[in-house]
Amino acid sequence: MEVFTSVASLRNFLEQQTFQQRSIGLVPTMGALHDGHISLIQLCKRENDIAVCSIFVNPTQFNNPEDLQKYPRTLEADCAMLEAAGCDIVFAPSVEEMYPKQPVLKFNFGALETVMEGASRPGHFNGVGIVVSKLFNIVKPHRAYFGQKDLQQVAIVKKLVSDLSFGLELIIAPTIREEDGLAMSSRNRRLNVEEREIAPHLFQILESAKRKLLKGESVEEVIRQATAAFDSIEAFKLDYFEIADLNTLQPITTPGATGTNAICVAAFLGPVRLIDNIVF
Ligand code: PAF
Repeated sequence: MEVFTSVASLRNFLEQQTFQQRSIGLVPTMGALHDGHISLIQLCKRENDIAVCSIFVNPTQFNNPEDLQKYPRTLEADCAMLEAAGCDIVFAPSVEEMYPKQPVLKFNFGALETVMEGASRPGHFNGVGIVVSKLFNIVKPHRAYFGQKDLQQVAIVKKLVSDLSFGLELIIAPTIREEDGLAMSSRNRRLNVEEREIAPHLFQILESAKRKLLKGESVEEVIRQATAAFDSIEAFKLDYFEIADLNTLQPITTPGATGTNAICVAAFLGPVRLIDNIVF
């Protein structure tokens, strides 16, 4: 496995690989890797000749400076995990390398970004759009891999790829969970022991909402009960609990056909903001 920190040298290497007809897969990450990322790398390696993992804590997608500062940075441990998973290339640029100049370009993803994460974290998806576009232009992957846990990010990246004709295949992999149901996330390692014990309630409340909706309870009533469930656990501070159309991400009043609905949640547990979702 080789680690690149410069855009020019990575480009040079990958252009030679493409010239030799090798397919390239990219798994964009912000590091602090867990088994969810590793499953994406393994999938990427199975489907491509060269598996590239980018590790870059992207400042332009953080609207909260404390969140950016506290975001775990564990490059050495990440590289060990990547090497064991069969990753070929790590791209770990500095902020100066990725942003020699502050970008002035602004993305507008329309209604996709006025809800949920976009509403709670203004500017977040602009930053995601910028960094993902830069990574696609630098790596020029044939396939790029994202996790379903970041459901709104997936919708935004799909739009980016189609509107800007990136000409790559997007692969969306299911959320990987701990045994107790907690969705794997780099932020989980910031939970203290007590918070970690409480954290699986997030998924339990999602599951219970899904069961009730499938039994025919109304969207309004299910949201009311889920909100009450969060309120009853003092450590949680609910940010949003939404039942939405999977493609438009707009709130729905009645679920559509199977597989077209999503229940999405974001909640603070102590200082840590957790998100999760279920598609049904
Ligand atoms: O999902 C993430 O880790 C980030 O948003 C991404 C896609 C790597 C862009 O910085």
